[in-house]
Amino acid sequence: MKDQYNREINYLRVSITDRCNLRCIYCMPEEGIKQILSHQEILTYEEILRVINIAVTLGTSKVRITGGEPLVRKGVVGFIEKLAKIDGINDIGITTNGVLLKSYAKDLFEAGLKRLNISLDSLDEKKFSMITRFGHLKDVLEGIEKANEIGFTPIKINVVVMRGINDNEIEKFAQWSKEVPYQIRFIEFMPLGGLKLWSKELFVSSDEIKSRIQTTVGNLISVQVKKSGPAEYFMLQGAKGLLGFISPMTTHMCARCNRLRLTADGKLRACLFSDKEIDLKKHLRAASSDKEIRKILIKTIHSKPQAMSKYIKPLRPMSTIGG
Ligand code: 5AD
Ligand code: SF4
Repeated sequence: MKDQYNREINYLRVSITDRCNLRCIYCMPEEGIKQILSHQEILTYEEILRVINIAVTLGTSKVRITGGEPLVRKGVVGFIEKLAKIDGINDIGITTNGVLLKSYAKDLFEAGLKRLNISLDSLDEKKFSMITRFGHLKDVLEGIEKANEIGFTPIKINVVVMRGINDNEIEKFAQWSKEVPYQIRFIEFMPLGGLKLWSKELFVSSDEIKSRIQTTVGNLISVQVKKSGPAEYFMLQGAKGLLGFISPMTTHMCARCNRLRLTADGKLRACLFSDKEIDLKKHLRAASSDKEIRKILIKTIHSKPQAMSKYIKPLRPMSTIGG
């Protein structure tokens, strides 16, 4: 279905939990989220699957499972299995921090998941533990390797670049793309998360990242990638992997926005940068018919703003929206 600005909305991002086994400095306060959701507050898998089935009738064909950290929610493998069986859904992805990937990769693959996005902001053990507050790089790297062996493709690595924190690793990540068949994507740091960490000083633009790579690592050759989403892709001569750039701050990504978000507590969000939410859970639990739920989805699609209102921080921490 198209929105008011002629954008085809075919992508639903579903956060299945607000909990996480890390505390990334740009995403969560150290002590965790104050009002962690109780089990009654979060949508059941059945409720989520119902919403997805209804969204399919409006043209949704892509679903991404996010968190928090989606792999910390019990039953996630069974959920993915059911999701993969929905007619009309031909693209399922998950965004994970990779900590539990080593134990889950095989089951997830067998359940029908093929596409993986892994958030990884540093290749340095100490720096990684600093950014995630207590994560171990080794767990994530082993998880990624295992996923690659099993056959996940594509494997996308998301790197949020922050000046003075991990921007000294841009070259290292670029070099890594020569050796591994992953899509390593640099993401411009956005003022999200309800935290005070973001500042202009920390921000590094995609143009700067590109020019640093061109000067110190090698020429970036532009490549066209199917299902590239908002990323623009390049490769280094002879590399196994790709380098991607996601530039929400310096380009107008909104014109190609194709998504809705469903939060773990059942709120529909039409835009990452707008705090307007529609309480779908209320309707799901009030025994509304599929037709009524469908109407709410249509209303949400119609409410998508044309573009983000810059620098407005969502009231919710990023971990409860799911990126
Ligand atoms: N800016 C850019 N990317 C972010 N993410 C979380 N917070 C931000 C932010 N402020 C990314 C995470 C993860 C995805 C879910 O969103 O790194 O890859
Ligand atoms: Fe957890 Fe991802 Fe947030 Fe880090 S960025 S705290 S891994 S949800």
